[in-house]
Amino acid sequence: MQTRCRSRKIMAHQLLETLNPPSRPFDLGARDAYEIWREAKLAAFPASAQSCVIHIRDLAQPSPAEVDAVTESCARANLAIVALEEAPVAEQARSALPDFAAHLGLDVHERHRSAADDGVVDLEVSSVRARGGFIPYTDRPLNWHTDGYYNDPSAPIRAFILYCVRQAPVGGENQLFDPDIAYIRLRDEDPDFIAALMHPRAMTIPAHVEDNGDVRPASIGPVFSIDAAGGALVMRYTARTRNIAWRDDGDTAAAVGFLERLLRDGDPLMFHHRLEPGQALICNNVLHNRTRFEDAAQARSGRLLYRMRFGRPVASN
Ligand SMILES: [Fe+2]
Repeated sequence: MQTRCRSRKIMAHQLLETLNPPSRPFDLGARDAYEIWREAKLAAFPASAQSCVIHIRDLAQPSPAEVDAVTESCARANLAIVALEEAPVAEQARSALPDFAAHLGLDVHERHRSAADDGVVDLEVSSVRARGGFIPYTDRPLNWHTDGYYNDPSAPIRAFILYCVRQAPVGGENQLFDPDIAYIRLRDEDPDFIAALMHPRAMTIPAHVEDNGDVRPASIGPVFSIDAAGGALVMRYTARTRNIAWRDDGDTAAAVGFLERLLRDGDPLMFHHRLEPGQALICNNVLHNRTRFEDAAQARSGRLLYRMRFGRPVASN
């Protein structure tokens, strides 16, 4: 067993080295580096969301092998889905989440207006928060986005965890798409699309005044950027069509149109998953959406997910 774990770990390291080479594959001038990375990425990519499911025994204390499996899945697909053998009661899961995150190197969570001191946000239908215009707190469908696309580009959300306490009786499925694959599809179609989406003023989200009078300043930045520390690709995107301004440029319009069609029409490497109670999605802020759902009629029994967000990606061990 020990030998198997060790060889699995070596494989994961080799995979990580290939998928995160120091040769900057996202640099448009480095065609060879891109081709090597692209081939490794596509060869290592899992066949389905189901192949990213990792069964773990204890959310607060995952074993080293369980942590390695999550890390390796994130190296391949920027996501993993953890399934607990037995779903704990909600309070127990909530208190275990920060510990679980810390095992993945996610030890500093974002300060969000809806988060409690533990950094966990309840995602559930809320008439109060829905009135603020926040679709996550309704049963309406959520369009494609990466989390925190409205943040200052210098403070992106790099990872998040969604833990399912209760499913809706109907709906509430997520589609998930690795930004690395979106990058490959765009660059293979036309490298000028990448140049346009890497422009520092490609996408503007206007300033927003919140109910309490706080002003979130305008967010102006690229769709794709490179993490200066690790060399990984970072994506900032929303498919919203209101309160957004794209750079007024032919290549930008063509690139955005291509990406919209790609997300609408689907891709063989796009995943669908409906989180079940006791399951959690861990991801390096992949593109995602959510279908409409029908909530339970009884009070305190509706769909409930816990969310944590982080300014760094899952550690690659
Ligand atoms: Fe989201």
